[in-house]
Amino acid sequence: MSVPVLTIDGPSGAGKGTVSRAAAKLLQWHYLDSGSIYRSLAIAVLQAGVALEDLAAITQIAKAMRLEFDCGEVLTVRLNGVDITSQLATETTGNAASIVAAYPEVRAVLLQKQKDFRQLPGLVADGRDMGSVVFPDAQFKVYLTASAEERANRRYKQLIEKGIDANLLQITREIEERDRRDSERATAPLMVPDGAVIIDSSSLSIRQVIDAVISLVR
Ligand code: C5P
Repeated sequence: MSVPVLTIDGPSGAGKGTVSRAAAKLLQWHYLDSGSIYRSLAIAVLQAGVALEDLAAITQIAKAMRLEFDCGEVLTVRLNGVDITSQLATETTGNAASIVAAYPEVRAVLLQKQKDFRQLPGLVADGRDMGSVVFPDAQFKVYLTASAEERANRRYKQLIEKGIDANLLQITREIEERDRRDSERATAPLMVPDGAVIIDSSSLSIRQVIDAVISLVR
């Protein structure tokens, strides 16, 4: 029997990270935060001073970059041996990630890195195309969404709590722009994967969402 996978896809700020991490902990499965792979690439590209239009250079960086993940209480990521965790969550990183993620060549390079996370006893994978492209044969699929307004509010609170300066109106615009870019791109667009259960978290607590997700698996 193949290694069980629970995929949790959806737009940014729907609560996928919190829910996926909690589900992985409860199930005692591995956890793949696929967004952090694209975010790490974006950081590497920005650090190298490479333009976000320079596909050849970006593909080269994606092939060469060495990533190490430590999925403890807090996700820690090292890029070529250097801890980049504090830069992962910024809006600059997120926006650049969504630009580099739109290149099919880049996605092809990063596909196997993601598939490698499928290890016993199981995997919770969070992203945009987990159930549609990376693990289409996943046994359990969720599409987690929420209104753009609610997602912007949550992101704003997260950033303020982390001491990062934020502007709600700008975040709302960026979320809408990122939704549009992620949904309209030609390769692996954000979509409800075949067979996925849709959960709208706009008026649910995190606990309620986690319970709904876990009850799918158990
Ligand atoms: O989920 P997160 O906000 O960390 O993802 C950052 C960006 O990476 C997304 O806006 C999206 O463009 C891209 N991404 C993707 N496919 C995934 C995960 C993230 O294209 N599976």
